[in-house]
Amino acid sequence: MFKVFKKSNEKESSQVFEKIDMNNIPKHIGIIMDGNGRWAKQRNLPRAMGHRAGVETIRNIVKECSNIGIKYLTLYAFSTENWVRPKDEVNTLMELLVEYLKGEFRELNENNVIINSIGDISKLPPKCKKELTDAYENTKNNTGLILNLALNYGGRNDIVNACKKMYNDLDSGKLSMQDINENVFSKYLYTAGMPDPDIIIRPSGEQRLSNFLLWQSAYTEFWYSQINWPDFKVEDLHKAIIDYQNRDRRFGGLK
Ligand code: IPE
Ligand code: IPE
Ligand code: MG
Repeated sequence: MFKVFKKSNEKESSQVFEKIDMNNIPKHIGIIMDGNGRWAKQRNLPRAMGHRAGVETIRNIVKECSNIGIKYLTLYAFSTENWVRPKDEVNTLMELLVEYLKGEFRELNENNVIINSIGDISKLPPKCKKELTDAYENTKNNTGLILNLALNYGGRNDIVNACKKMYNDLDSGKLSMQDINENVFSKYLYTAGMPDPDIIIRPSGEQRLSNFLLWQSAYTEFWYSQINWPDFKVEDLHKAIIDYQNRDRRFGGLK
């Protein structure tokens, strides 16, 4: 079904792939793509090179998620806090986003991927905003993987923004106080209509959320790895999925 995607050699050599239970694939995977800077530093390269190498990992991981039938993949690409980085670095990240979308659009579209974004994209440079909205408009009727690019995304901003939208609906009478519950609240978040992430993967050794999907991760399984994002391989994704499949998710209940 996804034959347009080039077969990855990594997949062929992946010893772990066969161990994945195809009947228990997570519906929604979130990834905090971290460690680009450290990857570059280890090689005496500028940080920008780390980000560029990270894009290569994005290409491979998105294709693999599509191939194995993941329904939602949310990639944390730029946080509401990342604006404090040097201007040059912010510009590089924005340029890489445009490059990625331009370079991958055709193949993603042919493979039925919906290119979506979450976060306040109104604050992104106009070129990025346009590329993102065009990508979404041209893929929104696809039925495959929903690729959520989290851009200028912050979990706290997501919640505050949801409160504001909800207040508007209360004010206009579209919503009444007694109808508010967790389910209704979720519909005001950027992830409206999507299931909560089953697993969040964070490479680079950090063990924190860094403001990613705060509300949505109430019962998410976490998977950390020391590997920096540019070195993260399809095989690591497979390992995370297998690990996830061996977790006992109780949601507050008993086994
Ligand atoms: C992740 O890599 C990319 C973004 C946060 C945009 P980093 O740039 O954070 O890499 P480290 O943490 O400095 O290694
Ligand atoms: C989280 O990484 C944000 C993204 C991956 C986009 P950071 O590198 O910004 O997080 P901290 O500062 O280490 O917590
Ligand atoms: Mg980092």
